[in-house]
Amino acid sequence: MASAPQSPGIDSEIADIAARLRAAGSVFAADEAAVLLEAATDDAELDSLLKRRIAGEPLEPLVGWVRFGRLRLTVGPGVFVPRQRSLMLARAAARIARAQADPVVLEPFCGVAPIAASVAVAEPDAEIHVADVDPVPLRFARRNLPADANVHVGAGLTRLPVALRGRVSLVASVPPYVPDGERRFVPREALEHEPPSTLFAGADGLDHVRALVTDLVGWLRPDGRALIELHRTQWSAAAEHAAACGWRPSRRNGSDGQTVLLGLAPG
Ligand SMILES: C[S@@+](CC[C@H](N)C(=O)[O-])C[C@H]1O[C@@H](n2cnc3c(N)ncnc32)[C@H](O)[C@@H]1O
Repeated sequence: MASAPQSPGIDSEIADIAARLRAAGSVFAADEAAVLLEAATDDAELDSLLKRRIAGEPLEPLVGWVRFGRLRLTVGPGVFVPRQRSLMLARAAARIARAQADPVVLEPFCGVAPIAASVAVAEPDAEIHVADVDPVPLRFARRNLPADANVHVGAGLTRLPVALRGRVSLVASVPPYVPDGERRFVPREALEHEPPSTLFAGADGLDHVRALVTDLVGWLRPDGRALIELHRTQWSAAAEHAAACGWRPSRRNGSDGQTVLLGLAPG
């Protein structure tokens, strides 16, 4: 969180709000207090936001934004809030797109489109496509992306224009990948406020990943690459499936020790 110099009055207001948040169990009480103070336009709104936060509403949809690297992304109720662990994917995607000639970038399962928005800032000339089955996050994605980005509503790759086949230089995606039986590892706020369809993906969590790896065949240009975020325990099964589909799979490990990227290159 950016820390601008603040007046002693604001410091003490943040301290008061943080104390109430901490008493309610907030771990990042001071950071949250600063965000709420910034979001509220008057004392009545601050009081209302604080009460809703203390009652358990997640911070980001409450204030309408989440910090993602250097970006401030618009979010709202009923959507998956981009996770900080996905910055690894966003940064890798931006590096690859910058090194490509005439990049054409696709973020399937985009939600509010954090990866495509990051690439668009790093490489403003990239042609951007995003897709999601749910129109709700796509309303926020439109606001997070440049005006000329292409937003497609539909399951998987089904609604992409056929003219894109064989032209995509980079696919970067965070599909749902939590195994159905691992609810106990998902934070309570996510379980209560994010649609299950944004989180869970079958017995081993790879239902959407497998479908994406299969369906992507034919969409990449010869020097194209794909990067898909997974949990480290899922990489081997996903890579085996990718190889069976004719891809050359690769692996990048995240610094959190949990997140990995499955890379795909045409075989
Ligand atoms: C884990 S969220 C990731 C969103 C975004 N990439 C991010 O990192 O914030 C997965 C997204 O996949 C979408 N989704 C779920 N099933 C889908 C399907 N069959 N086809 C396309 N999108 C789907 C959900 O609506 C959700 O926005």
